[in-house]
Amino acid sequence: MNYHILTLFPEMVLGGLSTSIIGRAQEKGLLSVEAINIRDYTKEKHGHVDDTPYGGGAGMVMQAAPVCDAYEALCARLGRRPRVLYMTPQGRVFNQQIAAELSAEEDLVFLCGHYEGIDERALERIVTDNLSIGDYVLTGGELPAMVMIDCISRLIPGVLGSDTSAEIESFHDNLLEYPQYTRPEVYEGMRVPEVLLSGHHANIELWRRRQSIRRTLERRPDLLERAQLTKKEQEYLESIMRECGEENGENGE
Ligand code: ADE
Repeated sequence: MNYHILTLFPEMVLGGLSTSIIGRAQEKGLLSVEAINIRDYTKEKHGHVDDTPYGGGAGMVMQAAPVCDAYEALCARLGRRPRVLYMTPQGRVFNQQIAAELSAEEDLVFLCGHYEGIDERALERIVTDNLSIGDYVLTGGELPAMVMIDCISRLIPGVLGSDTSAEIESFHDNLLEYPQYTRPEVYEGMRVPEVLLSGHHANIELWRRRQSIRRTLERRPDLLERAQLTKKEQEYLESIMRECGEENGENGE
């Protein structure tokens, strides 16, 4: 996977992606991250990349030419026209499924805007996907690009320690992850659940799966509709739903 980030702040994205797992994945040659400074593609004497909006209004708008020229120079270098993901609160909200789909691409371009946005004509010309990281407004697209790159990268084989760990975690199967414990067995009077010390793998699996179901019901019940549960698990879910109902005094009377 090769990421190409079109930005006015290359140091921000390169700094954030050079450490920890994503940094190591680059060293291992599993992925590459390059930041392309949009400012390098301005033809203006003073290096301006923005101007006031036509029709008036607050703020500045990034001009179309440097954005399109930066992308065209990249395409000429690569010999293909990769997908361009524009980071915008107006986009589809990014999720694990989108991450999985994007992880199959060979190259991805992240277009990061600043100020009041980018001239619509550049967006019309080059953007293939509008993506948001949530219903709130940030000062620029760099943090969203870093969030998405982190999430996509951990799905690339070899990036995480073992191939299975990406799958077991939250959102696989639309269930949240079960709780984890490590030494010591007792911390401040709180014991590790007995079953995890038993060495009985089938019981541990059953306990973990049930914890995932319980946790998803408590914290993200919206996910349960899409979760794949066996008949037994569905019965377990119904039993804890009844338990919750009784606790809240909803006993049908
Ligand atoms: N740019 C500003 N806010 C954003 C958001 N929530 N998601 C993606 N890009 C953004």
